[in-house]
Amino acid sequence: MHKKHLGFSYKNQILHAESVAITDLMAVYGSPLYVYSRMDIENNWREFDQAFGDHPHLVCYAVKANSNLAVLNVLAKLGSGFDIVSIGELERVLVAGGKAGKCVFSGVAKTKIEIERALEVGVRCFNVESASELSRIESVARSVGKQAPISIRVNPNVDAKTHPYISTGLKENKFGVDMSNAIDLYQQAQDSKYLNVQGLDCHIGSQITEVSPFLDALDKVLVLLKQLKDKGIGITHLDLGGGIGIDYEGEQTIDIQNYIDVMISKVENIEIILEPGRAIVGNAGIFMTKVEFLKQNSEHSFAIVDGAMNDLLRPSFYNAYHQVLPINKNAKGIQAHWDLVGPICETGDFLAKNRALSLSEGDYLALMSAGAYGFTMSSNYNTRPRVAEVMVSGTNHQLVRQRESVQDLFAQERLYE
Ligand code: LLP
Repeated sequence: MHKKHLGFSYKNQILHAESVAITDLMAVYGSPLYVYSRMDIENNWREFDQAFGDHPHLVCYAVKANSNLAVLNVLAKLGSGFDIVSIGELERVLVAGGKAGKCVFSGVAKTKIEIERALEVGVRCFNVESASELSRIESVARSVGKQAPISIRVNPNVDAKTHPYISTGLKENKFGVDMSNAIDLYQQAQDSKYLNVQGLDCHIGSQITEVSPFLDALDKVLVLLKQLKDKGIGITHLDLGGGIGIDYEGEQTIDIQNYIDVMISKVENIEIILEPGRAIVGNAGIFMTKVEFLKQNSEHSFAIVDGAMNDLLRPSFYNAYHQVLPINKNAKGIQAHWDLVGPICETGDFLAKNRALSLSEGDYLALMSAGAYGFTMSSNYNTRPRVAEVMVSGTNHQLVRQRESVQDLFAQERLYE
């Protein structure tokens, strides 16, 4: 079982992040606010790393889940690798103290500029997603006189049994190369002196809560690995992507040690790379919001909060569930089944629906498990400044991203003169 947000718990009926009362954080930093537990981030990363024991491996945290420099820095200090999908993510990792030589570069449309920069700093590997992309990487490598390390991302055509928007390993998805075309591509890469074949890659989706789709994908990839070996194409690492699901509403999810044990038992003498994002930061963060108004009609009870879909998009976009907890368990208010809605002018602007809570105006509420794909998917819709982010470690807390000012939002804009 995944250990759910150990960094967040009640002490004397007040919600705490590690040893800091969230009430204190709200007084210092204001609302809305993202709060991260450093201990949870570290423990979640170590759980993956240690599960491999002596087997050669690299845990490449998927930066898109939460790309705050402080989060990347905490992981870099542990020796983490990184899965990046843009030059922006690469530059963040470097500024945060991560090593280019531990970065795998994924994504379906790497630009010439991105490839040049990645070659310049020396990324560990490009995960190549199409024949055209392979040619582009080869031509950029030739123009700068370097060899590009590559993996081909194959699409194993397995059903990840997750939300259709975050399923990536089916033929109907845009990701990866059909297994049947992969051998030709590898051959092409092997024949080029500007490409250096290193790995075999796949990623089948996100928030996967059963191990079977991963094992189906692994079995298919191992068949291909054998075929490549028979053709004299040596593969030195297998990248099995990310996608390990977390517990959002009490669901059973993947036992990481068990998954990795099975993996190791099937893969001998080859380094394994994983790209977990959500499983490292998801339960290590919460989103705090304040109840502005309570509004009840004959049908519905609405708690209008100061956080909105631009701050935490997952409920609106995927109909995702985030548990809602009061900051003060003792608070007495109006008991009802509340919909938490934001100030944005969209009916789809909700953070949670139909939650039994006792609320008063001015209360603070925590949306749990918001550390992954929370802040990184936030936007400025309705000209709303993006919120502040805070990291807690033991009894200490630090601002790790300042709240944007309204002026920041149009600083890049110009009048047409
Ligand atoms: N590797 C690749 C190539 C990926 O595309 C992804 C996620 C990951 C690794 C990390 O997957 P994770 O371990 O975090 O599941 N915004 C959605 C999730 C989108 C995932 C996209 N790719 C959400 O909020 O649920």
